[in-house]
Amino acid sequence: MRSRRAGAAHPTGDGTSGWVAVNARAGQTDAVQFDLDQVDALLSTTRAVRKRLDFDKPVPDDVLLECLQLAVQAPTGSNRQSWRWLVVRDQAKKDALADLYLRAGGDYLRTAAQEAEAGSQTGRVLDSANFLAQNMARVPVLVIPMIIGRVDGTTNGAAGLMGSILPAVWSFQLALRSRGLGTCLTTLHLRLEEEAAELLGIPPHMSQAGLLPVAYTKGTDFKPAGRPPVQEITYLDTYKNPIA
Ligand SMILES: Cc1cc2nc3c(=O)[nH]c(=O)nc-3n(C[C@H](O)[C@H](O)[C@H](O)COP(=O)(O)O)c2cc1C
Repeated sequence: MRSRRAGAAHPTGDGTSGWVAVNARAGQTDAVQFDLDQVDALLSTTRAVRKRLDFDKPVPDDVLLECLQLAVQAPTGSNRQSWRWLVVRDQAKKDALADLYLRAGGDYLRTAAQEAEAGSQTGRVLDSANFLAQNMARVPVLVIPMIIGRVDGTTNGAAGLMGSILPAVWSFQLALRSRGLGTCLTTLHLRLEEEAAELLGIPPHMSQAGLLPVAYTKGTDFKPAGRPPVQEITYLDTYKNPIA
């Protein structure tokens, strides 16, 4: 087991003091070790799950809330913590969201899937995305991450706003994966964001950041995806100057 000395804690769900207490009780602030094999496996195998979502297995609220409790440890600009989460279980609302998702992205996905090279990574992703679009209403839970505010059209504004919710979304995805659940960050429905807001009673000053179909996964064995060597896309001191 590869490991590294580091502090660690477990959520108590009752506010930040619980995190401190875990280490304090153990009396070993600097002695807890991460299992790097486990951590690296989690980071490299948390995939966008669509075809392997188990539509039939219920997802309890307490599991969702535990994952969200971990998610809100993520950073936010100015520590605003202005994230909000909408958990949609009601079948009529899921049906309406699924319909909206299809209307927003169905044509794009169908065309793109047809045009993609068969068997390519992109082709597989689009085929899978198409499957999700056709089956969204069957997913046990749809989670909409939201943030207070609207993008103002500047890079700084967009980074500050979406950058204050998407790290939490990724933590949510990691927490789900570590408990045998899966999801896929989707954004296609945002083409019809206002309609979704009306359906769910979301006020105009809130931005939706996506739509996450959440379910237990069929099997838990997921593999790292093919990615370029990071040296090819990382520069030293000057743009395009190779780091290694
Ligand atoms: C910002 C963003 C938007 C995405 N939107 C969608 C979407 O609307 N529908 C979908 O099926 N997948 C969506 N995805 C998932 C990507 O297709 C997926 O992450 C990508 O194909 C890589 O797959 P992997 O996460 O399994 O490595 C989105 C991902 C990101 C980061």
